[in-house]
Amino acid sequence: MPSHLLLKRFKSRRMTLPDPDCAHNASNPNLCWYKKPMFDFWQSLLAALERLAMLPSLIHSVLPSLPSRKRTRDAVRTYERTLDDLLREIQRLLEAPLDPAQLLHMSGKLHDQFAPKLHASDMCMLPSYNHKLPTGLEHGTYLALDVGGSNFRVAVVELNGRQPAAKSMRIVNMKSYKIDNSVRYLRGTQFFDWMAEKIDMAISDPQLKKINGTSTFPMGLAWSFPVEQTSTRSGNLLAMGKGFRATEGTLGQDLSELIMAPCRKRNLPVRLDSIVNDSSATLLSRAYEDPATRFAVILGTGFNIAVHLPTSALSSTKYKGYPQKWRDEATHVLVNTELSMFGGKPVFPMTRWDEQLNDAHVRPDFQPFEHMISGRYLGELVRLIVSEAVRTAGLFGGEMPDKLNEAYSLDTGTIAALEMDTSKNLTNGIALFQTKHPLSRPPTYNDIHFIRQVSQLVAHRAAAFLAAGIHSLWNLRTASEGLTPATAGKMAIGCNGSIIEKYPLFRELCQSHLDELTAASGAEPKSISLEIAVESAIFGAAVAVCCLEE
Ligand code: BGC
Repeated sequence: MPSHLLLKRFKSRRMTLPDPDCAHNASNPNLCWYKKPMFDFWQSLLAALERLAMLPSLIHSVLPSLPSRKRTRDAVRTYERTLDDLLREIQRLLEAPLDPAQLLHMSGKLHDQFAPKLHASDMCMLPSYNHKLPTGLEHGTYLALDVGGSNFRVAVVELNGRQPAAKSMRIVNMKSYKIDNSVRYLRGTQFFDWMAEKIDMAISDPQLKKINGTSTFPMGLAWSFPVEQTSTRSGNLLAMGKGFRATEGTLGQDLSELIMAPCRKRNLPVRLDSIVNDSSATLLSRAYEDPATRFAVILGTGFNIAVHLPTSALSSTKYKGYPQKWRDEATHVLVNTELSMFGGKPVFPMTRWDEQLNDAHVRPDFQPFEHMISGRYLGELVRLIVSEAVRTAGLFGGEMPDKLNEAYSLDTGTIAALEMDTSKNLTNGIALFQTKHPLSRPPTYNDIHFIRQVSQLVAHRAAAFLAAGIHSLWNLRTASEGLTPATAGKMAIGCNGSIIEKYPLFRELCQSHLDELTAASGAEPKSISLEIAVESAIFGAAVAVCCLEE
């Protein structure tokens, strides 16, 4: 579907869901259109009266006679404004920045932030030691580790080489271990002991023992945090986001040694041959299948983009400690941009909910871009808006649902499920919300419809801002390759992570905005396509090892 049509349809989908009060009148669902403005009118009038503290007894005696279930439910309370007023404000704040001119402006502002970091920063625009992309002919069987924000996965991966009509890579066996808060809060070496214990459990599987026999497993690690590479197989541990505490007492230490020391203690037959950031792993695995790949986006719990850039795009100080041979051979380098750390107030318009999220964060201002678009934060932004709606506009009749006062209690998975709900009168969504956040009386259709609208607005803004981020990096790459948007040609971007892969309409919306932005920059139509790269972090960890061997 053409981009502008998708954006249009998305907006109309959001605004035309049926009103439950009209649901009984199936023959004419628009019959009670008039009710809403009238209801708004009464609510505003009463709120204004009560704000003036005039005639409180009159107000309270009038309230129960209003034609609304909600009114009787909270007969003794009035609110600062109506839900509709609040929704209009939310829509204005979240949607206003999304027109192409403003997104282009944000892309430009991001671009301005790149220059100093390409010159000197040990936190972002991090070069790796991988300068060549895979040929796609590499073969082998490897143990791939993927430390993500929510899971640690250990897999045996088989690479068979790119071939027509056959799978070029395969997961032979995979074990996944949940990273909950008890693991996330493990301090320093305790976290790496936990990893070694899980590697031990995974390779004790009889099937794995059969595959590997008595030899040592070559391992590749996809690490979903920044790392300052010191070789293809080693790197210094940098500050970790996502609530992890593994850097306490270990910051700056060699990540390879931190993992291998407890593995040696357990006599595990493993050898860590390669470390790459998960975004770089995604790029490598996608490039193994499609040699035109130059970018990869990760958007799940966290957010990042990896880019294959000419080495000259980064200043020579960024290659401090790199061997002369590497410098002589490399024309390009795989860069972990840590794009999550860019953005913030100078780039993106911030709403009061963005400010609240940042102020309450354990690491405020550390990853401002991630705070606006990743899976860890979309639910939290919606929660902040919903809590405000309960307090100030009488959502849920003014009753705060269970746990909704706690930070991060509204899961992004829950809002995605509400958005996907196609049941009549949102009965499934109502039941789901009541299970997750019980109320003394189940939410109404209007309550859940409101949350859905807010979720759509928050997610749409995230998709558009991601498009601005991709566009700014695409401009950077285009210029550093000595090209122009018109001559840059077509490019596929490997995408991985729960939000970009699964959040309803997210990738499609991002693609639509991207099409608008690249067209406005003078590129040929559809020059960038966002392609899902399934399990790419785990595959990429293996591809990174096999690239070393060729
Ligand atoms: C981390 C990145 C990682 C991304 C996706 C971010 O929070 O800083 O290193 O690539 O999440 O997992």
